[in-house]
Amino acid sequence: MLNGKTIILGVTGGIAVYKAVELLRLYVKAGADVHVVMTKNAQQFVTPLTFQTLSGNSVHTDLFNLAQEQEIGHISLADRADLFVVAPATANFIGKVAHGLADDLLSTSVMATKAPVLLVPAMNVNMFENPIYQRNQDQLRADGYRMMDPVVGALACGWEGKGKMPDPSDIFDETAQFLVPGDFCGTRILITAGPTRENIDPVRYISNYSSGKMGYAVARQARRRGAQVTLISGPVQLTPPEGVRLVKVSSADEMYRAVMQHASESDVIVKAAAVADFRAAHCAQHKMKKGQSDELTLTLTKNRDILAELGQIKDAQILVGFAAETEDLVANAALKLRNKNLDMIVANDVTDPGAGFDVDTNVVKFLYADGSIDSLSQRSKDAVADELLDRIVSLRKGD
Ligand code: PMT
Repeated sequence: MLNGKTIILGVTGGIAVYKAVELLRLYVKAGADVHVVMTKNAQQFVTPLTFQTLSGNSVHTDLFNLAQEQEIGHISLADRADLFVVAPATANFIGKVAHGLADDLLSTSVMATKAPVLLVPAMNVNMFENPIYQRNQDQLRADGYRMMDPVVGALACGWEGKGKMPDPSDIFDETAQFLVPGDFCGTRILITAGPTRENIDPVRYISNYSSGKMGYAVARQARRRGAQVTLISGPVQLTPPEGVRLVKVSSADEMYRAVMQHASESDVIVKAAAVADFRAAHCAQHKMKKGQSDELTLTLTKNRDILAELGQIKDAQILVGFAAETEDLVANAALKLRNKNLDMIVANDVTDPGAGFDVDTNVVKFLYADGSIDSLSQRSKDAVADELLDRIVSLRKGD
C-alpha cells in the first residue's frame, strides 16, 4: 500500500515514544521506506537501535555528525520525503517549529522539507490547554501543517485529560490519506464480510470459518482511498475500520435484506462474505433434546443467492464476487462469474494454508467477464484488497 513511499518519522522526547515504534512497524509493513530522526531527549526513552533495527535504515540523531551527514545529509533527507511525520511531538518541539527555530537535526529537517508535515502532539493536559501552546498550534495549522488532536485518557504524569498520543493505527490511517490515491472519492461501495449463522434451535447454528478479515480489508482500503463505505458484516471478532458505515447481520436472510436495502445506492458492490447456501427448514423453538436415537436428520432449505439476484438487477454498477473453492479453482469460479452476471470474481483456493478462511494472507486469481485472468502470489489481505480496488478502478474506466 505504501510501496515506493518515503516517510521521515521524527521522534521527540516523551513517554509516548514507545508508540512511535509500533507506528514505524505499521509503515514498514505497508511497504514504506522509513527514515527515523530522533531528538536527544527521545533517545532517553528508546534507543536509536530499536528504530534502526525495525526500519532497516540508520537513525539520524545529530546535525553535526560527519558520518551521518556523509551518508545522507539532512537537506537530502528532507527532500526525499513524501511525508514527514513527527510523533510524538512535544510542546517544546511544536513551539520551536511555530517560531521558526531550527537548532537540531529534526527541527532543521522539518523547516527544510517541502513534503506535507503531520505533527502528532502528546503532552500533559495542562500544557495542552496552555494558551501559549494553543497559539502555537493554531499558527502551525494556519501555516499549512497538519496536526492530529491528542486523545483523552490517563496520562503518564498521573493527570487525566486530553494529551495522550493517538493509537499508532489511527496515526497510520491519518498518514495514509496523504499518500494513498484518493481514487475512490465520491464512490459509494457496498462490501459484505464474514460468515452467516443459520440457527437450528435457540443455542445452535450452522456456519463456516470466515473471520471477516478479507471483507474488512477491502472496506479499510476502500475507505483509505476515499470511498463512502457500507460494510454489511456477519458475526465476527474484528473492529470495523474507522469511517465506515457498519450494518451487522447474522443469517443469510438478514444479509439478503440489508444488501437489497443498500444496493441501489451503491456504485460498486464487493461480496466477500461467506453466505450459507442452506438453512434449517425449521428452526426449533426450544433447545433440541438428545433423545434416544443415535442419529438426527436435519432438513435444510436453500437460501436465496444474494449475488445472483444482484447480477439480475444490476445496471451501471460494478459487481464483484469471491469464490471460495477446494478444487478446480478457475473452472468453478468462472462458472459463478457467468451464472451470477459479475464483472469480476476473486477466486481463492481455501485449502491453501496461506489463503482463504481466517488467515491474514490470501492467494487469489482475478477472473473477468471477458475471460481474462490474472493471478497474485501470496500477500496480506490488505494488499490483496488494494490490488482488487486497482482493478475496479480500471473496470470503471473501461480499461
Ligand atoms: O473472512 P475470511 O476468514 O478472511 O475468509 C475470506 C473468504 C475465504 C471468506 C473470502 O476470501 C471468500 O472467498 N469469500 C466468498 C466465500 C463464498 O461464500 O464463496 P462461494 O463460492 O460459496 O460464493 C460465491 C459468491 O456468491 C460469494 O461472493 C458469496 O458472497 C456469494 N453468495 C453465495 C451464496 C449466497 N446464498 N449468496 C451469495 O451472495
